[in-house]
Amino acid sequence: MADMTVAYSPSHGLGEEQSIWFKLTPLLNQENPMQVLMALSDKYGGVIPINLKNQRIVLLSEPAHAERVLVSNADNYTKYFDGLRPIFGKSMITIDGALWQKIRTPQQAAFHPNMFEEYFPYLMSAIDSKMARWAEIAETGETVEMVEETWTLAAEMVCKALFDREMPFNPHFVFQQVKIYTDVMNHKSIRLKNQRGELVEMTAEDTAKAMEVWHSIPETVIGANAIDHREKTLLKMLEAAEADPDFPEFDHRQVIDEMKQYLWAGTESTALTLAWSLYLLSQHPEAMERIRAEAHAVCGDADPEWNQVQQLSYTRMVIQETMRLFPPVWALIRIAAGDDHIQGHKVKAGDKVVILSYIAHHSPKYWDDPEKFDPERFAPERAKKRVKYSYLPFSAGKRACIGGALSQIENTLALVQLLRRFTPEYVGPVPAKIHATVTFCPKGGLPFRIRALR
Ligand code: HEM
Repeated sequence: MADMTVAYSPSHGLGEEQSIWFKLTPLLNQENPMQVLMALSDKYGGVIPINLKNQRIVLLSEPAHAERVLVSNADNYTKYFDGLRPIFGKSMITIDGALWQKIRTPQQAAFHPNMFEEYFPYLMSAIDSKMARWAEIAETGETVEMVEETWTLAAEMVCKALFDREMPFNPHFVFQQVKIYTDVMNHKSIRLKNQRGELVEMTAEDTAKAMEVWHSIPETVIGANAIDHREKTLLKMLEAAEADPDFPEFDHRQVIDEMKQYLWAGTESTALTLAWSLYLLSQHPEAMERIRAEAHAVCGDADPEWNQVQQLSYTRMVIQETMRLFPPVWALIRIAAGDDHIQGHKVKAGDKVVILSYIAHHSPKYWDDPEKFDPERFAPERAKKRVKYSYLPFSAGKRACIGGALSQIENTLALVQLLRRFTPEYVGPVPAKIHATVTFCPKGGLPFRIRALR
């Protein structure tokens, strides 16, 4: 098979020309970018090598490819983070090898399921704040952008449950600032920002300002008063690692950067999942009713108790099905350290390898009627038959998401509570347009109106 060559014209100004996101722009800047990728994957048998001027990108889309890169030959593939360093600094999500393991170890305990009961009241309290805001929005009838709504909720959950702090910053402002940065740096071609309906070109000054806001957040969180002075919080674990004289690598910068990682990697994907699930539910009112009926059957009219959360199984399946159809992290990128062979194709040292989880999630080889919204496919009996690595919302292997289980608790509680008091009505175009960047975003957001039920 001949390798494919994608032409691109280097433009000037913002953005990093070496960024893989910039290089993939000709593929991703389409009306329906995922359909283009799926058609290419079909045509080239699952492996799509793309030759650029001075490097090669290999797109992979089969579960066996994911197994090779993420699990059985994982040591040959290092993380790719160009363009995102200012967001994530030197946090563990960006580093490899022995140092990554050393940095991850003291944080792991914060994500053990036996901590979730302790987080539960703080998650509920963040949902209460969101419900108070929605009650006001329902009164005015204004339209809200749902990803911003769900991001501000996820950020409050992280601050309260993991850091033991009220949210000491304006989350709407911070969300907009970081979005400016990620959009501009990763997709030079879309550096026009939409300002009150007008397209305005972003300047380097705008992005510098956005980053200044972002860099100030962790110290603001640390400096805020503790809510309950809990002993076992993630923030306490980070500070203990910093204070450990035998762990000089874990300096104050490391604490700050880990916090940035949690405030972005630990919020954006959770927020996208919740926003996309509300979009899907607005198209499937019968599923929304089923969530309400399940909540009523499990909790009556009261708020859920911790020991009832496991019983909210249909709600959890809706979240899992949302992450199949709209995987927040739809592409996992690695750099090959040495040569490898994947499905008969040579991968050379230095190649960028992109695992397209989205394609495996939508393949008729692994899913019946893959475009259908069918939460029941995650019922235990059916889930057992799933081909391994065909479902990768949290990646796989040792670098899998640390917060996957926590995010599902967060979103289950949020769906149940929000839907019992409100009907969020999606008022944008159907199907929603996709903006595939580092994460799987709706183009221009997801506009909703909020209707109060009681
Ligand atoms: C629906 C929600 C979420 C999704 C879909 C998601 C997805 C992912 C994926 C795919 C990765 C691996 C990326 C790669 O291998 O290139 C990852 C890593 C990570 N996630 Fe999540 N995530 C979610 C929620 C969370 C939450 C709630 C937290 C923490 C509060 C979190 C913290 C992290 C961290 C720290 C890593 C890096 C782990 C490491 O490199 O050792 N994520 N996430």
